[in-house]
Amino acid sequence: MIQFTNVSKKYDNGTHALKDINLTIDKGEFVFVVGSSGAGKSTFLKLMMREEVPSTGSIIVDDTDLTKIKKREIPKFRRRLGIVFQDFRLIPNMTVFDNVAFAMRVIGTKEKKIRRRVPYVLSLMGLNEKARNYPQELSGGEQQRVALARALANNAEIIIADEPTGNVDPQMSYEIVDLLMRLNEAGTTVIMVTHEHSLVRCFDKRVIILDKGTVVSDGGALIREAATSHINAVSEISSEYVVPPEEDYSAYAQDRQSPDMQENSEPVEVMEDFNVTGGED
Ligand SMILES: Nc1ncnc2c1ncn2[C@@H]1O[C@H](COP(=O)(O)OP(=O)(O)OP(=O)(O)O)[C@@H](O)[C@H]1O
Ligand SMILES: [Mg+2]
Repeated sequence: MIQFTNVSKKYDNGTHALKDINLTIDKGEFVFVVGSSGAGKSTFLKLMMREEVPSTGSIIVDDTDLTKIKKREIPKFRRRLGIVFQDFRLIPNMTVFDNVAFAMRVIGTKEKKIRRRVPYVLSLMGLNEKARNYPQELSGGEQQRVALARALANNAEIIIADEPTGNVDPQMSYEIVDLLMRLNEAGTTVIMVTHEHSLVRCFDKRVIILDKGTVVSDGGALIREAATSHINAVSEISSEYVVPPEEDYSAYAQDRQSPDMQENSEPVEVMEDFNVTGGED
């Protein structure tokens, strides 16, 4: 469970990024976080991974009070998280394989397990052929998928993903969210920032809308349409926010439902086989 109580965040330069946030995300929930550029989405995620600290209020993740946690306890806390940063944060002088392996090495995973698990998570992201490449040799979408593979490596209890589909095409976007849904069905809590409101509409989950640092809407399927129209309304008043072109995700949704399609479709079949312990002994 993630609990924000009266949380505000003012950066040192005076920017008031979040204002009085009160909400709870239960264990096993899937939550989309949307809102215009600068609304505070990344700040919201950075607070829950203890990359930033709130100016006021408290944040509790399961049994850990992030406003009281000691510095030396932070790495242990972060082991529970699989994080995809908006700017990827891949290590430039490490290969794709080692970037993913590194996440496992820092928590003391045995090399034997790393050698099984890394190719497995890379295969989920369609990246096996890039294992020996360095990040700068990859496209933006490929780098993003490495960041996602790294976030999946440790079977984290909570996945926190900041626009994990921002650089990939609609088919890949759909497959990534579909994969996150499967992880979620297996018990993982998923919090995902996205700008793609058609993706949000396609998957029937809770949507938190941030606008200028406050939660302006928070709800499930029933308010999805209202949420979407709010995004449109926000886009009209914010020149920075550009509504992405409408993508029709319904075709991919049919893929997911049809066993025939899954058999004939490589990526979807890989996703279908996905299980959280894959690649292990
Ligand atoms: N380290 C920082 N120092 C000062 N101000 C910051 C810092 N990080 C973010 N901000 C400001 O806080 C506000 C919220 O930023 P944040 O990155 O959370 O927005 P966002 O919703 O993730 O936007 P985007 O969709 O563009 O990624 C913005 O006004 C931003 O300029
Ligand atoms: Mg952001």
